Amino acid sequence: MKVLVIGSGGREHCLAWKIAQSDRVKKIFCAPGNGGTGGLAKNINIAGSDVKALCDFAKSEKIDLTIVGPELPLVQGIVDQFERRGLKVFGPREQLALLEGSKVFAKETMARFNVPTAEFAVFNHPEPALNYIRKNGLPIVVKADGLASGKGVYVSSNFTEAEQAIKEIFIDQRFGPAGEQVVVEKCLAGEEASILVFCDGNNVIPLASAQDHKRIFDGDSGPNTGGMGAYSPAPCVSAALEQKVNSQILQPLVHGLSAEGKKYTGVLYIGLMITEAGPKVLEFNVRFGDPETQAILPRLKNDLVEVMLATIEGHLDRVSLSWDSRACICVAVASGGYPGGYEQGKKISGLDQAEKLPDTFVFHAATKKEGDNYFTCGGRVLNVVSLGADLKQAKERVYQAIEKINFAKMYYRKDIGWRALSR
Ligand code: AMP
Ligand code: GLY
Repeated sequence: MKVLVIGSGGREHCLAWKIAQSDRVKKIFCAPGNGGTGGLAKNINIAGSDVKALCDFAKSEKIDLTIVGPELPLVQGIVDQFERRGLKVFGPREQLALLEGSKVFAKETMARFNVPTAEFAVFNHPEPALNYIRKNGLPIVVKADGLASGKGVYVSSNFTEAEQAIKEIFIDQRFGPAGEQVVVEKCLAGEEASILVFCDGNNVIPLASAQDHKRIFDGDSGPNTGGMGAYSPAPCVSAALEQKVNSQILQPLVHGLSAEGKKYTGVLYIGLMITEAGPKVLEFNVRFGDPETQAILPRLKNDLVEVMLATIEGHLDRVSLSWDSRACICVAVASGGYPGGYEQGKKISGLDQAEKLPDTFVFHAATKKEGDNYFTCGGRVLNVVSLGADLKQAKERVYQAIEKINFAKMYYRKDIGWRALSR
């Protein structure tokens, strides 16, 4: 088989690495890929958002399976376009990619099927939104409807903050058309976890649980980022909780959608808040999580390509996933200054030595290869990943590996996994 992976981050390097282990795969392409994917796949210089060019490429190269990493092409309808041209593609169609593409759509869908989520209201204008906030009290959460690169959510602990959020979205139009509608919802308290599932429209199979660290500084402080690390399994996700997630969230959602004639196929990511009243959905993503995937896939024993084909063909009832019992941890190594401004083009050293350590992998998130050298070309540069007998051992290994790596102004968190380790 020839497989095309769309995207350019650590998640896509990890997907390509896992796909390369499949006996069925002869050749992998990555569009656009990065310095790391270039070692496993042929990088193709087409942006993930250029759906037409990707479609033309897959058709002319006779690609047997395309895997879409990021949300944007999914929301743009890449799956519908590939299917129309007879190409096999892993991911949901446009109408359900909206579960991530529109928070209003996601909340209204959950409300229709009684899926537990924070109480909410939808607004098109600032004044009624502010009245609702005054009436409902604090803390309160304000969310821009559309895709906002993770920046469209404001958890506000005072009225001035909430007012500022409403102003940025509606009046300053910080997110453009993605901010034409706003969801205002109750602030939930608890621990967050990520549950990813494969879904073929009817059958749902959960992957191993994971938790990520979104904040830039140790102790989960400072501004939000695309994710500074993750680990799997997440000890707060017990078997009993998984059952609740299945019966209260996944079954009603997937069967409710299916009864409306909408089949969700692909991987669905459920961002959960585990509250005293049970699990509640914070958000859906219609793709693999980044960096959760880099902590989950090294534990998966199955051939990922087989699982993806079964997902597309509606045979997930015949699949059972098998997991390495060891723990896995992923630490993001970033350019100093991220998520604010940072410098690029720094030469990276020590990658070979880091990868020589046992059960350790380095997935590239933003690197460029020039000659024999790798250079930084983004905020989150590398994802260093280790397996260990338990999370403690995995953590020791991953930080030993990171110590071998160096580039100017490199930054990483030293405490990935702290919440799980302090239980
Ligand atoms: P979202 O993109 O909707 O997942 O929001 C990003 C982050 O904002 C989540 O990971 C949570 O930390 C936080 N968040 C979102 N919604 C809520 C809520 N209703 N209550 C508390 N925190 C929330
Ligand atoms: N780790 C969060 C995300 O993939 O959106």
